[in-house]
Amino acid sequence: MKEIFKNNCKISASILNADFMNLGKEIEMVEKAGVDMLHIDVMDGNFVPNITLGQPIVKEIRKHTKLFLDVHLMIKNPDRHIDSFVDSGADLINVHVEECKHLDRTLNYIKQHGIKAAVALNPATPLCFVENVFKYLDMILIMTVNPGFGGQQFIGEMVYKIQKLKTMINDYQNYSDNRKNIDIGVDGGINLETAPKVVAAGANVLVLGTAIYKASNPREIIESARRKFIL
Ligand code: DX5
Ligand code: ZN
Repeated sequence: MKEIFKNNCKISASILNADFMNLGKEIEMVEKAGVDMLHIDVMDGNFVPNITLGQPIVKEIRKHTKLFLDVHLMIKNPDRHIDSFVDSGADLINVHVEECKHLDRTLNYIKQHGIKAAVALNPATPLCFVENVFKYLDMILIMTVNPGFGGQQFIGEMVYKIQKLKTMINDYQNYSDNRKNIDIGVDGGINLETAPKVVAAGANVLVLGTAIYKASNPREIIESARRKFIL
């Protein structure tokens, strides 16, 4: 693997495809294997077709692990639920731009709680929707599948979108006083084959769901990703 793929990457394990009857053990396994974050997919059967889990489960997960909790809200009216997810123990709240009429206000509100803020963009959503809110953002999540389900195929065109976003962030850091780091996350169909492409384009937070939880040896996948993508 060429050095170019090595980066200050973080690995975020998506529990969507974990064994929910053994969730505690499934989380313990990825924590021991060295992931940096836990990615929790909250779906409401409305913004996306699927329904998953909510605040009570996040609260239980918070008691069980010290991992950074990255909560991906695929729900209508996310503003209504920010307080309760903060109370449940989220370290980062990620809202979908397509659901936020007043994105500046929503992100400002998340930041006021002293946690990290992120915004997610569906594959068809243009980057210009987030270009005026960089000052609030700790991460921008590029959806590399249409959200709703785990185990979908990576959409190759998103590599160009990641490259463009990297350039936009660099420009912002060069021309504004606000030089804070903004992570580029990728979510959907990320595995050891697709990850090098997105990392080379500028992504540094890799959400891995199926690649970990449906692997015959999940620990080996995590260790291999760490060796390849983390300096
Ligand atoms: C998709 C979810 C993803 C998903 C990733 O709607 O937001 O986080 O769990 O899973 P894989 O890695 O299986 O695509
Ligand atoms: Zn997700």
